Amino acid sequence: MDAETSPPSFETDIKPLFLRFDRDQMLFIFDLWEIEDVRTHSRSIYARLKSGDMPCDRSWPEEHVALFRSWIKAGCPD
Ligand code: HEM
Repeated sequence: MDAETSPPSFETDIKPLFLRFDRDQMLFIFDLWEIEDVRTHSRSIYARLKSGDMPCDRSWPEEHVALFRSWIKAGCPD
């Protein structure tokens, strides 16, 4: 999908960015495959992605961080 022209969707665009490993490692705080959890923690998730602090074993490419930001700006749609 094109982040510039249409809002990203959680199911199609955002959820696939969270690997099973990420999800498993973060379950002690929230579930990265559950939209309500990701909505609730969207600001702190974004801050960690942007700083390169999370995922703990690598950094997301800038286009993935930008996609997550545009999902927040669109109101965290399904
Ligand atoms: C895209 C993937 C990930 C995202 C978006 C993410 C996001 C976050 C966020 C937002 C927090 C702070 C939660 C809070 O205190 O409320 C956090 C904490 C933490 N994460 Fe992740 N995480 C990811 C992947 C991982 C992975 C792969 C690991 C380990 C292998 C990991 C280990 C931890 C640990 C140990 C903490 C608690 C210590 C700390 O706050 O730094 N995370 N993560």
